[in-house]
Amino acid sequence: MSNKKNNQVSRRQFLNYTLTGVGGFMGAALVAPMVGFAVDPLLKGEQSGDFVYVLDEDEITDTPQRVSFQIDQKDGWVESQVERTAWVYRNSNGDILALSPVCTHLGCTVDWATQNENEFFCPCHDGRYDANGVNIAGTPPTEPLHEYTFKIEDGKLYLSPQTHAREGA
Ligand code: FES
Repeated sequence: MSNKKNNQVSRRQFLNYTLTGVGGFMGAALVAPMVGFAVDPLLKGEQSGDFVYVLDEDEITDTPQRVSFQIDQKDGWVESQVERTAWVYRNSNGDILALSPVCTHLGCTVDWATQNENEFFCPCHDGRYDANGVNIAGTPPTEPLHEYTFKIEDGKLYLSPQTHAREGA
């Protein structure tokens, strides 16, 4: 008889269990989205790096032409569109090049053939690059212009959003 009474849950205990369970559930329901929001950018990492269409393959000339394109940029919680530019052309070997216009010395913008024929020129400190974007010895830049990775699909040229240093240039 007394054993049966010990196994019974009192009204007070039942109320405590119920309120604790419901309170815990509601707390978790409130906190989980906040935690997800807080760590979301960390979990997602960098942009996946989708290629962007810039021009048709048959529009690529032997002379560097400056092309602009927009990319989606995500910086933490802030999403925005930013403009990128590239010098796109076929070099004397017929290879397609898509070079960054950012001088590898201190980051000014290089132009094509403004000072010397068939050279890129940086006006900030008279930096010079040859027709393949390779820095000319004796001028401030110490490495070639960086390049965009590109791909051609269905006669269209697509560039990666980011540039990288050139290997073997
Ligand atoms: S920034 Fe281009 S030469 Fe210095």
